[in-house]
Amino acid sequence: MHTYTKTNAHVNGTTPAVAGDQRALLERITQRHASVVVMGLGYVGLPLALEFAEAGFDVLGFDVSVEKCDLLNRGDSYIADVPGTRLARMIESRNFRATAQPEALRQADAILICVPTPLNKTHEPDISFVRGAAEAIAEFGRTGQLVVLESTTYPGTTADILQPLLEAAGYTIGQDCWLAYSPERIDPGNANFGVQNTPKVVGGTTPACVELAAALYSQVVKQVVPVSSTQTAEMVKLLENTFRMVNIGLVNEVAMWCHQLGIDVWEVIGAAATKPFGYMPFFPGPGLGGHCIPVDPLYLSWKLRGINQTARYIDLAREINTAMPHFVVTRVSDALNDEGKALRGSKIVVLGVAYKSDVADVRQSPSLDILKLLHEKGVEVVYADPYIPNVEIDELHWEAQPLTNELLEEADCVLIVTNHSVFPWDQISQCSRLILDTRNAMAGRSVRGRVARL
Ligand SMILES: NC(=O)c1ccc[n+]([C@@H]2O[C@H](COP(=O)([O-])OP(=O)(O)OC[C@H]3O[C@@H](n4cnc5c(N)ncnc54)[C@H](O)[C@@H]3O)[C@@H](O)[C@H]2O)c1
Repeated sequence: MHTYTKTNAHVNGTTPAVAGDQRALLERITQRHASVVVMGLGYVGLPLALEFAEAGFDVLGFDVSVEKCDLLNRGDSYIADVPGTRLARMIESRNFRATAQPEALRQADAILICVPTPLNKTHEPDISFVRGAAEAIAEFGRTGQLVVLESTTYPGTTADILQPLLEAAGYTIGQDCWLAYSPERIDPGNANFGVQNTPKVVGGTTPACVELAAALYSQVVKQVVPVSSTQTAEMVKLLENTFRMVNIGLVNEVAMWCHQLGIDVWEVIGAAATKPFGYMPFFPGPGLGGHCIPVDPLYLSWKLRGINQTARYIDLAREINTAMPHFVVTRVSDALNDEGKALRGSKIVVLGVAYKSDVADVRQSPSLDILKLLHEKGVEVVYADPYIPNVEIDELHWEAQPLTNELLEEADCVLIVTNHSVFPWDQISQCSRLILDTRNAMAGRSVRGRVARL
């Protein structure tokens, strides 16, 4: 967690007198004269900051990483979904700049918190980043600001962590400071849904809080969905991601049943998806990855443990999903066995280590487990991924290999873990002797060798 030097800017009497005016703030928001500070310039914060900058707001990105701020101010984007040209345009127009100086929080009319909410070593919520951000606002902010938490977290975080910290700094929520929660729903790599066309759920500590937050978001989002409290808004996000986690767990288990029964799970899903109501398709895969789906439901189960409740669906889905890398390795072993080969000593090329297609993110990626498991079983395992130049797993280190004909031809098995659209699929299908396809990427392709599917 980042620590700040205490200067008591808010409590030492330098606070502007007129700042606590809700109507004036509403006017600045609707006229797009408000100054917006986005805290945390990662996958969530950077696209959000640029959206407000492009809508004409004066936007300052605040991140504790000086290195990231320097890159951004030079117009260099480190987020795949944010082209450098888009960032550079906003830097040139002076609508956006980045800083690591917490004093800059003072200039904000609205502060949007997009800091990480990971799990700690014992798989419990680590809200130290949220707490750090709130402490910085209490320290360097001023009256008259709207503060919105966007980080995914357990129900009660805004009321139990942010509110007391702001109140202890002397603010009266709903009168001279407005507090809200609005879950970030961005889906990195999704070409169809972005900030503007993904409805934004907003819950406020008071009605004035939700009114101001809704007014702000409606400047950049087509549909704002107000809900009755911050706790409700927090729970909405956890329902969404628990729904995904549980359904992925279900379909992964169905894939294992189908394998035992000798039925093609992909054909089953495709046919089931023709039902126009009451069914939506989820797809099996090598396991869950990313910063959200494997992590967020555990925030909810942790919260439930505090009231002596067990999140049974979450526990079961987690058990099934975390077993998938082992299932994949068993399937590779079986596929090699069918060719009279042992897993130990074989050469395997893993295609894709990012947690999903077309992103440069390996957080919680099942590929990492698969690489490690294969290495432990004595496999000569390498990987190719155009987005991830190298990976470190404990003391192990891999460098991405160029995807040459020789690499594919010499492999005893090519294991498709992430189906990046930029992979040369024709070359893969023509040069590989044996493919284990965990993503159904080979569907409809003519292949030279044999394809085993999940
Ligand atoms: N990545 C996604 O797809 C996604 C989607 C929806 C919601 N979320 C949620 O949004 C939140 C942010 O996720 P992310 O993927 O953007 O994280 P990230 O790690 O990409 O970025 C977070 C940034 O916050 C900065 N930071 C940490 N502490 C800070 C502080 N006190 N003040 C200012 N900056 C600070 C870090 O340096 C980093 O740049 C998480 O709660 C996550 O669960 C993420």
